[in-house]
Amino acid sequence: QFICMKQVELYGNCRTAPLVKVKSSHNTHTCYNEHKPNQDIQKVADLYCSACECALCEDCLPAHEDHPKVVLSQALEQHRNRLQERLGAVQNRLPQISDALSFVREILQQLTNQRASIEEDIQSSFEDLHKQLEVRKSVLLMELEVTYGLKQKVLQAQIDNLTRGDGDITATCTQTEEALAEEASVATLEAEHELEERLKELAILRMPCQPEENDQLDLVMETDGLRKSIHNLGTIVTTSAVASQSEAMGSGLEQCIVGHPASVTIVTRDKSGGACKTGNAILSAEVFTPDGSIVDGEIVDHKNGTYEFVYTVPKEGEFSLALRLYDQHIKGSPFKLTIAKASEVEVEVAKRRGKSPGQKKKGSKRASSALGTPRRKTQNPIEDDLIFKIGTKGRNKGEFTNLQGVAASSNGRILIADSNNQCVQIFSNEGEFKTRFGVRGRSPGQLQRPTGVAVHPSGDIIIADYDNKWVSIFSCEGKFKAKLGSGRLMGPKGVSVDQNGHVIVVDNKACTVFIFQLTGKLIAKFGSRGNGDKQFAGPHFAAVNKNNEIIVTDFHNHSVKVFTAEGELVLKFGSNGEGNGQFNAPTGVAVDINGNIIVADWGNSRIQVFDGSGSFLSYINTSADPLYGPQGLALTSDGHVVVADSGNHCFKVYRYLQ
Ligand SMILES: *[C@@H]1O[C@H](CO)[C@@H](O)[C@H](O)[C@H]1NC(C)=O
Ligand SMILES: *[C@@H]1O[C@H](CO)[C@@H](O)[C@H](O)[C@H]1NC(C)=O
Ligand SMILES: *[C@@H]1O[C@H](CO)[C@@H](O)[C@H](O)[C@H]1NC(C)=O
Ligand SMILES: *[C@@H]1O[C@H](CO)[C@@H](O)[C@H](O)[C@H]1NC(C)=O
Repeated sequence: QFICMKQVELYGNCRTAPLVKVKSSHNTHTCYNEHKPNQDIQKVADLYCSACECALCEDCLPAHEDHPKVVLSQALEQHRNRLQERLGAVQNRLPQISDALSFVREILQQLTNQRASIEEDIQSSFEDLHKQLEVRKSVLLMELEVTYGLKQKVLQAQIDNLTRGDGDITATCTQTEEALAEEASVATLEAEHELEERLKELAILRMPCQPEENDQLDLVMETDGLRKSIHNLGTIVTTSAVASQSEAMGSGLEQCIVGHPASVTIVTRDKSGGACKTGNAILSAEVFTPDGSIVDGEIVDHKNGTYEFVYTVPKEGEFSLALRLYDQHIKGSPFKLTIAKASEVEVEVAKRRGKSPGQKKKGSKRASSALGTPRRKTQNPIEDDLIFKIGTKGRNKGEFTNLQGVAASSNGRILIADSNNQCVQIFSNEGEFKTRFGVRGRSPGQLQRPTGVAVHPSGDIIIADYDNKWVSIFSCEGKFKAKLGSGRLMGPKGVSVDQNGHVIVVDNKACTVFIFQLTGKLIAKFGSRGNGDKQFAGPHFAAVNKNNEIIVTDFHNHSVKVFTAEGELVLKFGSNGEGNGQFNAPTGVAVDINGNIIVADWGNSRIQVFDGSGSFLSYINTSADPLYGPQGLALTSDGHVVVADSGNHCFKVYRYLQ
């Protein structure tokens, strides 16, 4: 007897087990027809035909004479092994599937939570609107009552007056007629005299015969625009984009030059690879450097399903770029990037430009870090303008991770926004650590990513929180008091205080400068994204001069712009380059008592000083211990310049002589 190997699984060992079932459809074997179904097993040869993949009974042997054969037990063994392997391979998929399952379940859970929370938002928003409508309705009804009342009073008084006049005249006339009906006599003469006097009076009595009010009482309800607004009120925003199908492209993935913006385009796609046509997907980009240095970049939503990530790297080397859509890596992410130095030619050109006599201004000094790539500390430090520096990379007191904004108070304190450690640290002017505050989290008072800090004349500490998208106010002891700009700000980076005690907020993402009262009331705002005069390509920090003008650094436009408090451009200076007065992405800014403007030049790793009209004056000499991507900058109460040396994770205090 033979048995098909494909059915060994069903029957077990065919030599011992009875052949209970044979599918009639299973007739692919040449010897099948000789086989009798449902019969007790007969003698089975110990052989297996490899060509026909079947066990052979003695009767079939002749038919398989020329076929390669193996011992049946061996064939069965091999088969078992194969089966075991397959089983293992498939079982190995289980953890993967279970991971996917819990991940997808989690996404569904989030989606469900989101629905509930948005439902609440819709309910409460519309309740608010209802309330507002009700209030307006009451106001209108009241206004109607009051207006009607005033007019009604006038008209009623006129009616009363006329009625009284009418009554007087009628009565007097009746009296006179009665008198005339009687015989004229001396006895009535006096009474008639009186009547005559009375009639004389009545003849000239002023009566209000012209209406003293009108009947106009109209309602104008301009509801068309409102209806249209209501019709389009609220939008549910989402996309069908998935990370596994979305991809990135563009020169920024291949080559990138130190200090030059590189661009990556991200195309979002749905599960079947179709391009998404709408924006608003939640996308994040992070550039990782081997030594944790800072990279500045931003994502622009083209609102058509494509996004652009523009970033600038401060030094050459190997970097990695993680692009995440809804928290998951897109295709190919994280990407490996190699950042090259600007070609020698470019550097030469820049050098010549920098040294050209036409560019030279009075009192110019040039730091060695002014040209080329920022360099790390030299071996043999010579003295420059540095007085001291504080900090290394770390999470403890007096240590920093990517410090950004700095401020100085009139009572001798230096405040540092330690963005990645999510706190503000306070030091004395001499560099002694005093205190720090701010904790991880999202509720008010907990800092998420503090990037800007300023001190209000009242002593309050004002902190721009980039990720929380608001500005927090703390007391001078570090107690949370209030937040402002919530719901309005998109990415506040720098803060300052103007001459009126108003808070100036530089919204880097919205490319807008906001002016708030300390109470949170918005006073003014100006600016939008662009390269125009009243626009910003990437505003970072602001300072305010004695004339209450607002000085803003525009990182991506490589310029400094000065505005009136009303947002009129007064002055703009700077262009891209490495020469005197040129910038490679300006960041921190401060003004001295003479109106000179001190600017941190991030990509050129230097500090430049300008006069109030934007003419280049000098550099702070930072040559001995070069800066590396300086950010915030301020003047201390004892007249020194303090700068956040972000790439070196420390702050430095410099002599500042005028
Ligand atoms: C009636 O109206 C006239 C003219 O407007 C005014 O001079 C007069 O005082 C009024 N009389 C009364 C009682 O109000
Ligand atoms: C999306 O918008 C950007 C900027 O306006 C444009 O450059 C790009 O070609 C658009 N892409 C598509 C697919 O429409
Ligand atoms: C900066 O300071 C160093 C050390 O004092 C000095 O050698 C160098 O000439 C200074 N650079 C400029 C441009 O003044
Ligand atoms: C900066 O803005 C000006 C217009 O104010 C524009 O002409 C210039 O090209 C911009 N520069 C850069 C580097 O974007």
